[in-house]
Amino acid sequence: MTSEAITAAASGTWVLGDLTVHRIGFGTMRLPQTGAALVPDAVPRDRAEAIAVLRRAVELGVNHLDTAAFYFSPLRSANELINQALAPYADDLVITTKVGPARDASGHWATHAGPKELRGQVEENLRQLGRDHLDVVNLRVLGTASIAERFGALAELREAGLIRHLGISNVTPEHLAEAQAIAPVVCVQNPYGIAMRPEQDDFVRLCGEQGVAFVPFYSIAATGGQYGTTAAEPDEVLTVARAHGVSPAEIRLAWTLHRGPHMLAIPGTGDLGHLEANIAAGALRLSDAELALLETAHRRAAEA
Ligand SMILES: NC(=O)c1ccc[n+]([C@@H]2O[C@H](COP(=O)([O-])OP(=O)(O)OC[C@H]3O[C@@H](n4cnc5c(N)ncnc54)[C@H](OP(=O)(O)O)[C@@H]3O)[C@@H](O)[C@H]2O)c1
Repeated sequence: MTSEAITAAASGTWVLGDLTVHRIGFGTMRLPQTGAALVPDAVPRDRAEAIAVLRRAVELGVNHLDTAAFYFSPLRSANELINQALAPYADDLVITTKVGPARDASGHWATHAGPKELRGQVEENLRQLGRDHLDVVNLRVLGTASIAERFGALAELREAGLIRHLGISNVTPEHLAEAQAIAPVVCVQNPYGIAMRPEQDDFVRLCGEQGVAFVPFYSIAATGGQYGTTAAEPDEVLTVARAHGVSPAEIRLAWTLHRGPHMLAIPGTGDLGHLEANIAAGALRLSDAELALLETAHRRAAEA
């Protein structure tokens, strides 16, 4: 580790159930390919490059990884890369995975898992990661229908010891209440960032009040989603970035962490320089004036 590198410890900690993590983590969706993720014709990333990013993340104190069995390209899978780079796993490493969506062997989206298929998806993650239990499993949801049956199926797997803690993803406050009536929920993982889903603000606050971690995704990519950063940055983000001498991506991450102590970042990248910058963003402190300026950009999106 270079002496000047800022580590993930600078972002502070949060306890997921009984697992303590640094608030800057790492999302692995970008690792299996370069360019767009989750597409059948994705271009596989160089294996050594992906492994180097994972090892550097952990070396810099990242101890919260986000993954899924459906993060794969024709030749690489995120879980397999994690296993190869990091096993045997450090005791403090928390690997969060998600179940629900499915892709067939050629990478096309398949039908979401129902209650009966979820066990198979959990076991697939266990096999790929080489573990006997999963630290945190998010039920990833599409739409607003009841999740009681599916979440109930995961709660049974938690009781059976295959899963330590449960979360939910792409969900509403109603889903959270429904899940909490069945089993404890340690995290909500939803898309959120500056000028990105401002309608989530109340849900972010609600999670904070209930001690549930809010884990935003696409905080940097924003509307680019699985295709990565595509849109122009709002002037306010550029102004604050210039003042700190950092990239807009770092301001985006710092802003999410400033929304509350329960906010956990999981930026994704296949670039070592971006990785170090994203981890360093956990040390950025934004002034009240800067937060007010960024709020202007965020509110503008709410009014658009
Ligand atoms: N629950 C869900 O439904 C769901 C959905 C999507 C994603 N996720 C999780 O959330 C994680 C985060 O989402 P994400 O990876 O898609 O998006 P992201 O973290 O918002 O942004 C990643 C994109 O930004 C670029 N980037 C990253 N750091 C940068 C920097 N410092 N400067 C400039 N560009 C930078 C990356 O390209 P480079 O590789 O060139 O850096 C990539 O294109 C994923 O990895 C995944 O684990 C969950």
